[in-house]
Amino acid sequence: MAMANPIARGGCVPFVPSDASPRIIVTGGAGFVGSHLVKRLLRPPWSGTLKVVDNLWRGQLRNLIDPDGNPLLDFSRDVCIGDLTDYSVAELMTRHAETVYHLADIVGGIDFVFSNQASLFDKNLQININTLRAARANRVPAFVYTATACSFPKELQSNYSVVSIPEDKLYPASPESSYGWSKLMGEYQLEREQLADKDFQVGVVRLHNVYGPRAPYRKGSQALPALIRKAISYPAEGFQVMGTGMQYRDFLHVDDAVSAILAVRERGMNRGPIQAGTGEAVTLRHAAREVAKLAKSLLVKRFAPTFDNAFEGDKGRVADLTRARAILGWKAQVTFSEGLKGTFKWIMQEMELEARGRKGLRPSFDGSGSKDGVRQGAGHFGHRGTGAHAAERLSSRPTSHFSGGPERSMPAAAQ
Ligand SMILES: NC(=O)c1ccc[n+]([C@@H]2O[C@H](COP(=O)([O-])OP(=O)(O)OC[C@H]3O[C@@H](n4cnc5c(N)ncnc54)[C@H](O)[C@@H]3O)[C@@H](O)[C@H]2O)c1
Repeated sequence: MAMANPIARGGCVPFVPSDASPRIIVTGGAGFVGSHLVKRLLRPPWSGTLKVVDNLWRGQLRNLIDPDGNPLLDFSRDVCIGDLTDYSVAELMTRHAETVYHLADIVGGIDFVFSNQASLFDKNLQININTLRAARANRVPAFVYTATACSFPKELQSNYSVVSIPEDKLYPASPESSYGWSKLMGEYQLEREQLADKDFQVGVVRLHNVYGPRAPYRKGSQALPALIRKAISYPAEGFQVMGTGMQYRDFLHVDDAVSAILAVRERGMNRGPIQAGTGEAVTLRHAAREVAKLAKSLLVKRFAPTFDNAFEGDKGRVADLTRARAILGWKAQVTFSEGLKGTFKWIMQEMELEARGRKGLRPSFDGSGSKDGVRQGAGHFGHRGTGAHAAERLSSRPTSHFSGGPERSMPAAAQ
């Protein structure tokens, strides 16, 4: 396909065959899960070439900077601020790649999703089709896709009794939201491509609700980080839970989500979709009470959750882990209370930085969900290193190809 000169785009430098192998591209790599995946991939003894493409709709360059202020990647060569709704970006960045970890998509809390159903579906379809089509055109041998438990039929999640749904119960399809539909379309398309070409290596990890440090927590974000934000902001913001609080989720810590994604790449290619979750149901009521307890112990604030008894989305589902165990030998490691505490401390520190004005300050807490990270308390600040300056320069640079987000901004009171 003929293209304008995309190489002129800073950071959007394609692989060349002489780049060290494995040559990996992470789409959505400046986002929440994507940035943790990048960090894990780069752990020693890493010796390949890794690139990120992200239009920074929700991702942030500072997610790709280590606690000492050093960029994890060369921002001028390996971090493409590009929009995957533009096929030429996808085509350029998948050239000579050996594995695509495809995480870029429009993701948000239920209030955001249900306020942007049409545009979200449209964008995600474009992103997924472009990325997969480009990977196929460039003969990328392996493609890993982060699917979602939101694609399960709503009828299977319509009451509060706990259900664990096996992977093959996806059809007849009836996800509750266009987000679930768009992600399902991605799975379906990948399945067709794999059936058409048995040599094409496809991995599908169907994630449950991922949380942890670096999860977006502002208005429009997912339930758990939104609850933590409300607790920290209280009383300026009420500590209100959407719905009855009886709805439940399978909350998966981001460290575990990343280990599941990597396990799929290692042992789960061409084995069909594999769910990753803890298999445990946590009601929003329980989660809210745990968050309130943390607010009491860490911030000396006392309050109880209230419930708006309004729309709450699916009543719930937890992962059926049969395939994850049998095929991957994988199991989540981070307990809910340990993960929640680390996430709470991270958001607390981020909000403290925001309140002080981010300039000149950088948290010492590295944002990992590890116990080491949890051990470091909030409120420690160091001088910002060169990487943060690099990130700032890049994010303030005009990016003409930035157009990936929905038309509406994040709505208020979302969780
Ligand atoms: N977080 C969860 O609970 C969860 C659960 C199941 C599946 N997933 C899937 O995991 C993946 C990562 O989710 P996340 O929670 O890290 O969300 P995220 O929003 O933090 O990450 C998605 C990234 O994609 C980028 N992006 C959006 N539109 C783009 C475009 N047009 N071009 C290039 N980049 C674009 C965003 O800027 C963001 O950095 C998504 O595919 C999501 O569907 C997430």
